[in-house]
Amino acid sequence: MKPVKLAYIGAGGIAQSHLRAISDVDEIEVVAVADLIRERAEETAAQWGIPHAYQDYREMLANEDIEAVSVCTYNQAHRAPTVDALHAGKHVLVEKPMAATLEDAAAMTQAAHETGKLLMVAVWTRFSPLRQAAKAIVDAGTLGDIYYAETVAARRCGTPGGTFILKETAGLGTTADIGVYCLDEALHLMGYPRPVTVSAISNNLLSKSYKPLLGVRHWGGEFSPELLGVEDFGVAFVRFENGAVLVFKTCWCMHMDSLGDTFFLGTNAGLKLRPLTVYRHQWSMLTDTAPQSVPPTDPQVQFRQENVAFARAIRDGTPSPVPPEELLITNVIIQGLIDSAALGREIEVSVPDV
Ligand SMILES: NC(=O)c1ccc[n+]([C@@H]2O[C@H](COP(=O)([O-])OP(=O)(O)OC[C@H]3O[C@@H](n4cnc5c(N)ncnc54)[C@H](O)[C@@H]3O)[C@@H](O)[C@H]2O)c1
Repeated sequence: MKPVKLAYIGAGGIAQSHLRAISDVDEIEVVAVADLIRERAEETAAQWGIPHAYQDYREMLANEDIEAVSVCTYNQAHRAPTVDALHAGKHVLVEKPMAATLEDAAAMTQAAHETGKLLMVAVWTRFSPLRQAAKAIVDAGTLGDIYYAETVAARRCGTPGGTFILKETAGLGTTADIGVYCLDEALHLMGYPRPVTVSAISNNLLSKSYKPLLGVRHWGGEFSPELLGVEDFGVAFVRFENGAVLVFKTCWCMHMDSLGDTFFLGTNAGLKLRPLTVYRHQWSMLTDTAPQSVPPTDPQVQFRQENVAFARAIRDGTPSPVPPEELLITNVIIQGLIDSAALGREIEVSVPDV
């Protein structure tokens, strides 16, 4: 297969992880990189042998050789590069969360529809053996109808720093940063039902009153409570059109060891993800099945797989491996969580018609 000529917009932490993961991938040739911080683009180009470095990504998009773009900017800067790249005729792989706001996610999905270009959201956990095993079990109809699920992404003391905590760069905190992974985990296995109401709470009480802790480091850059402009805690009760309910819990920081893990209750069976177990009433007995041969999850391996899937979908003309229409629903729920928490009551939500 002829390699896809790929360019990067944003040369920060995640761009470096992608570049490392695809350094031996024949299906991709990285031809350019752009970053607002010119030296960062130039250093990245020098490190990875990329022929062209830019400060202004719009200038880079004028290069007709570029077929696809990987958008690795912070959340508030996902929309403009994605929409501009799609309208410049490029396919786009955009980092998770899809966007900082529902409005941005809808505009990005609409741009993909208008241009007919491929837009994929980089949710690497889609490629983990655990997810694929769980999806195979659910898609075989093992669970029957899923009527209730809980999904959790929680750290005990893991508030990051740098661009992750600023309103103007990240836009959202834990709900979009790690929350989007577990939200996609639950929705993907539930078949991406359409949410109708959200009732939620959210705050940043712990990180705002944070005092340094022995042995705790804030990755991602500088942290101080005064800089923090986003939430570090969020819990939502989500009802779907099909009657199912999801409880979504996420935090960067808490006075607790665990908030549980992702599980699903179905009419024929239940499924817990970690360790992967199916719970049934079978042969007139309570029966638990735990698959034994699921390989471990390795982000670097999964980054590679997601990039290869993107390149192959471009070459084969197949649909987006992680479609914007699905991740748009994560933005509906996250926006619903933030809005419901601000109002202090349940609200109605709907998926924008794009
Ligand atoms: N998939 C993962 O495991 C994973 C891990 C970390 C971060 N992320 C996601 O990746 C994104 C970036 O995170 P990061 O850790 O690399 O952040 P970062 O702050 O280290 O890097 C972002 C880079 O984007 C550049 N940038 C911003 N706006 C730009 C623009 N208009 N044009 C060109 N460059 C621009 C910044 O200068 C910066 O260098 C976030 O959305 C984050 O949620 C994903």
